[in-house]
Amino acid sequence: MRHILIGSLLILFSLLAKTQEIPAVYSNISIDEKGLFLKLEDRKIYAVHRKDLFQFEDLYSNIKGTNLGLDLDFKFPELNGILYYGFINYQDGRYPQPVYFRESSQIVNGKAQIPIRDNLSGRYDMVDWEKNGKAILGYRIVASNGMIFYDGKVAFSFKDNLFTAEPTVIEGPFVNQLSHKGAMISFTTSKPVRSSILCNNKVFNNKKKSLTHEIKLDKLQADKLHPYKLKVGDFEYEFEFKTAPEPGSRKPFTFAYGSDSRSGQGGGERDIYGTNAYIMKRIAALAKLEDARFVQFTGDVIDGYDTSRDRMNLQYANWKRAVESWWHYIPFYAGFGNHEAYNFIFHDPQTQQNYMIDHFPFATDSGESLFQDNFCLPQNGPHSEDNSKYDPNPDKDDFPSYKESVYWYSYDNVTMVVLNSDYWYAPHGLNVSSGNLHAYIMDNQMRWLQKTLNHLEKNKDIDHVFITIHTPFFPNGGHVKDDMWYHGNNNFRAVVKGRFYEKGIIERRDELLDLIVNKSKKTVAILSGDEHNYNLLTITNKMVRYPQGYQYKKLELSRTFYQINNGAAGAPYYAQEKTPWSENVRNFSTQNALVLIDVDGNKISVRVKNPDTLELIDEYILRK
Ligand SMILES: [Fe+2]
Repeated sequence: MRHILIGSLLILFSLLAKTQEIPAVYSNISIDEKGLFLKLEDRKIYAVHRKDLFQFEDLYSNIKGTNLGLDLDFKFPELNGILYYGFINYQDGRYPQPVYFRESSQIVNGKAQIPIRDNLSGRYDMVDWEKNGKAILGYRIVASNGMIFYDGKVAFSFKDNLFTAEPTVIEGPFVNQLSHKGAMISFTTSKPVRSSILCNNKVFNNKKKSLTHEIKLDKLQADKLHPYKLKVGDFEYEFEFKTAPEPGSRKPFTFAYGSDSRSGQGGGERDIYGTNAYIMKRIAALAKLEDARFVQFTGDVIDGYDTSRDRMNLQYANWKRAVESWWHYIPFYAGFGNHEAYNFIFHDPQTQQNYMIDHFPFATDSGESLFQDNFCLPQNGPHSEDNSKYDPNPDKDDFPSYKESVYWYSYDNVTMVVLNSDYWYAPHGLNVSSGNLHAYIMDNQMRWLQKTLNHLEKNKDIDHVFITIHTPFFPNGGHVKDDMWYHGNNNFRAVVKGRFYEKGIIERRDELLDLIVNKSKKTVAILSGDEHNYNLLTITNKMVRYPQGYQYKKLELSRTFYQINNGAAGAPYYAQEKTPWSENVRNFSTQNALVLIDVDGNKISVRVKNPDTLELIDEYILRK
């Protein structure tokens, strides 16, 4: 009996070890029969258990029809609170929203009911479900502490006196990767289904049954409005998008930029579990109102820093839901920030210190892979940091992928290059565990940037290149202690398997500036965030860029350059701090802000608006 027990324990351990193979890029991380641990000199610190109280899919996938309405089971016994519900009338208005009914239901031990027949018929049937035998409901889960947890959707049918929950488009459809030829339409359904989109008299099919769908619409005419009709089961959703003009047409257009929409204070929709849905929604509405052709949003979309995949997925879902009604029409390009971190945490009870590293396996269960799962972004970035000179294992992928977090795209004569300065990010204790530093761009991404900028310099259709990155090169309020400055301490750098990178953070910042400012003529500005404020920094060669007594090579800048920081999409504010470059800062504001960039041939002007009050915060010309 004892042998059987030991034998089974060994099998279990080897299974665990197999599923949790430690990436070779870490140091002092190991696994034993008690689990994953960080090895300090005299003791082991085990990873904090992730404690999933719920599975994200249970918030929408267990809905059963009765002859009274719908029974919802969130499989979350600790959840008590209120369920608001109401129809979404897709025929009434271009940006469908749920209209909540005057009464709500109680959520008791994770279960609730929507009494459609008794409450939502007759004069409350504004979607004609009684006539059509089908409709779509929105529902809002509010926990007993008052926090809004999730805004769900459920399609239902009514036949032979029985309601039935039907496969529902719970996210999307979203317009992504817009070009002059077409776009990628993505959406998520509550059940695995086939789907199709009718556009330009052609049917674009998803042949396999799936939960997440990405359908490419191509061979469309440039610079034209294209209505599209998504069909899932008996339900149809009609929206439209405008293809980009032919590259190099040089027609005037506007795009929008923002970042940092993780949850804010104040209650209500300023924190729909992990995201400031209130400000995001205002941003999306303002961007569309201003006829922005796309929205670039670079990092900290959610609170993140979590050990639970399901909590992270709920947060991403809430962010997407907040802007969904406008994303039906124009693309939103997300970037990666420090709050997209999905971690293993090792808590040392003796010193109270936390050690945090990027979750693995990297390919399927890391911060990077979660981001890839949640968005449909261009895949033209570098592969990973594998095969750099720090790669401990050249024959094998040991690093996370850059897929969809480093990429570029163009619209007419403008290119946006999206960088990831929180790749393989280890928030605490990387000197012990190894990992990348907040704001540090590692070698392969540098090389890719160089190659990409060279390529764009030669492209005759492109006049202007923007570099967007979560972390400012010159922080001004909130992150003077880190970003690409660390209070002027160049010692900070990435560590791979115990090996410290040769270049410190300030040297690396200079290498980036050299590529972007000196070696490229088309680059216009850095669009950054992380600091929760708006400001414009004019970077000149005269601007003080080094700490006193800086011993490393100093970079000469060949021209004036700009850093537009806009992390004012709803995360808690930071005030301005004193820095060596403070006098070059213009219009530092803690108002919520959306940057609107107007491009007209060679000319680029900027307007900054408060998406809440619609006040104009700043206005200037960047390029004449
Ligand atoms: Fe950040």
